[in-house]
Amino acid sequence: MSSATACAQPNIALVKYWGKRDEGLILPATGSLSMTLDAFTTTTTVRLGVEADSFTLNGSPAAEAAMSRTTSFLDLVRELAADDGPAAVTSVNEAPTGAGLASSASGFAALALAASKAYGLDLDQSELSRLARRGSGSACRSIVPGFAVWHAGRDDASSYAEPIPAPDLRLVIVTIDSHEKAVSSREAMRLTRDTSPFYNAWISSTEAVLDEMVSACRTGDIARIGELTELHALRMHAVIASCRPPVRYLAPASVSVFDAAAALRASGVQAWATADAGPNVCLLTTPGEAGEVASAVSGLGRVRVVSPGPGARLVSPGLG
Ligand code: DP6
Repeated sequence: MSSATACAQPNIALVKYWGKRDEGLILPATGSLSMTLDAFTTTTTVRLGVEADSFTLNGSPAAEAAMSRTTSFLDLVRELAADDGPAAVTSVNEAPTGAGLASSASGFAALALAASKAYGLDLDQSELSRLARRGSGSACRSIVPGFAVWHAGRDDASSYAEPIPAPDLRLVIVTIDSHEKAVSSREAMRLTRDTSPFYNAWISSTEAVLDEMVSACRTGDIARIGELTELHALRMHAVIASCRPPVRYLAPASVSVFDAAAALRASGVQAWATADAGPNVCLLTTPGEAGEVASAVSGLGRVRVVSPGPGARLVSPGLG
């Protein structure tokens, strides 16, 4: 009986992925760039030699939608491994599911590594990243430690994440609400493409922001990285708000965190806000200023300072 256990962490995009050009293969409309966190670990075990597929999440059988997404993902691994045996997947996720802390990213990154090992595959970093991408696009970046660029690519083979050098930064995560969001990012992404009059401008301007962000990371230009991060997050929320029907992820308290970032900057502290598809906001700052930034926003939500974290890793390999 073969089994493997792997860990992975979520990532927060500084240049967002919002739009697909191929929904089946999860090929993004643009590239994106993120920081993998050293917090909110997902630990996943995949065990073969069982009667049927199963998925246990945080100690309980997973909901039907999560189960069918997991089975489809296992089918991809089974096809690669030419082994159609069922698997028992057990996952423990420290992040609040569906609250904009990208738990699907850590979930599919850990599952890609654990399942590929359990089925006897030995994938390199870019192959693993491509596989994780098929579960959830942003998961391809959680394979990679620290800062990652996900290349949009031309096809399945060229769309994966790889590490990029960047200055040492911190994210101050302000958790405002950990309830499940009303519209999934997958659904809202589709709605944006299909109904926003600004979608094409969003895509072409993202390419330009990504190019600028990649050079700012390479040269260690923290002020430019911060400015682009906040600009791009606000543009994403603007294009989402322009859907029909409109979608809004930011809560009043989220907007207060953006205001707090502006006030901190006005007093000479480096802090820039970003938010994914949910109300929680992350403030990008330097290691030396993270404490001050965290105390400035402590009244607005639950606050946690996180550093760049490791990529997906194996905890227990094995044919056992
Ligand atoms: C706002 O990766 O969850 O966090 O590929 O449909 O699974 P699917 O979407 P997902 O979307 C993430 C959207 C985002 C931005 C980002 O992480 O780049």
